Amino acid sequence: MATRALLIQSRRHFSNGAIQNVTMVGGGLMGSGIAQVAAQAGNNVTILEVGQEQLKNAQNIIGQSLGRVAKRLHKDDPNAANKFIEETTSRIQGVTDLARSVENSDLVVEAVVENMELKHKIFKELDEAAPQKTLFASNTSSLSIAEIGSVVQRKDRFGGLHFFNPVPVMRLLEVIRTPDTSEQTHQTLMRWGKSIGKTCVTCKDTPGFIVNRLLVPYLAEAARMLERGDATAEDIDTAMKLGAGHPMGPLELLDYTGLDTGVFIMEGWHRKYPDNPLFKPVELQKKLVAQGRLGRKSGRGFYDYRKL
Ligand code: CAA
Repeated sequence: MATRALLIQSRRHFSNGAIQNVTMVGGGLMGSGIAQVAAQAGNNVTILEVGQEQLKNAQNIIGQSLGRVAKRLHKDDPNAANKFIEETTSRIQGVTDLARSVENSDLVVEAVVENMELKHKIFKELDEAAPQKTLFASNTSSLSIAEIGSVVQRKDRFGGLHFFNPVPVMRLLEVIRTPDTSEQTHQTLMRWGKSIGKTCVTCKDTPGFIVNRLLVPYLAEAARMLERGDATAEDIDTAMKLGAGHPMGPLELLDYTGLDTGVFIMEGWHRKYPDNPLFKPVELQKKLVAQGRLGRKSGRGFYDYRKL
């Protein structure tokens, strides 16, 4: 990642509109990454998780990633690197109590599993507990923002903030507005995204927004290509890296983001839009998931990571 963007992320400044206190609901890979970049930019971040074990996991993810960022920012100055890590970490706290997590919150970002019922339950409770001023956003990558926000009273203060994995490295933020999202909310979310070092783009509340609408069908076609026996996994990935300049080939990227995630997204879209051939789930991908080959996180996907 460009050092300039890292520097923006790490600069302590408070010019991000009204937003100073951020609540991160869910401390998995995406939630931890979002919490980290917000804290790097000077926000106070409260991570809400279901238990201490999950909070510990979030702390580990953030600790490892901060180490990498600090190394890049302060490669010749270990003291400055340690100070950066300590200051950023001191702005992050973990809690398991939902009401406490939003006491002073300006912005809540939700990044729990892609389950509409669960998101509804959480947002209903948050809506009752949070101050009126608090803005709500979901980091969903495949569900409708309006449908997620249908359970809250503050529909004008609800939008989408879609980050990319790994969050501390990827520079894009998709800011999604529904027909109910107010202009003021949208502008505040855009300003906040910029203040944490991201380049923001806007998209309507459509399946996959911009990136996943293009990326998911492309990744699926790569898996179909392998399924048809047109080329080997290695050659498909090499081709897209060297022929299209992508940092990862499509099958490597599917392994990186999780084959189960890919199947889940495609199945959801296919159910909703059965006539769109781009959304048809890939049998090979489903078969690998059924075998527990989920990608990097399970040690095996299209490739075998167990010996690495
Ligand atoms: N935290 C902090 N820094 C990290 C990091 C992390 N989690 N992961 C990588 N880095 C840093 C490394 O420290 C390294 O820094 P230096 O150059 O200073 O050493 C730099 O990033 C490059 O990392 P690596 O050398 O380990 O490996 P790489 O050059 O292959 O880059 C990558 C790794 C950034 C992941 C790159 O391969 C890449 O950009 N891949 C594409 C990722 C992508 O497409 N993401 C979007 C997925 S879709 C999505 O997220 C949407 C969704 O809804 C599912």
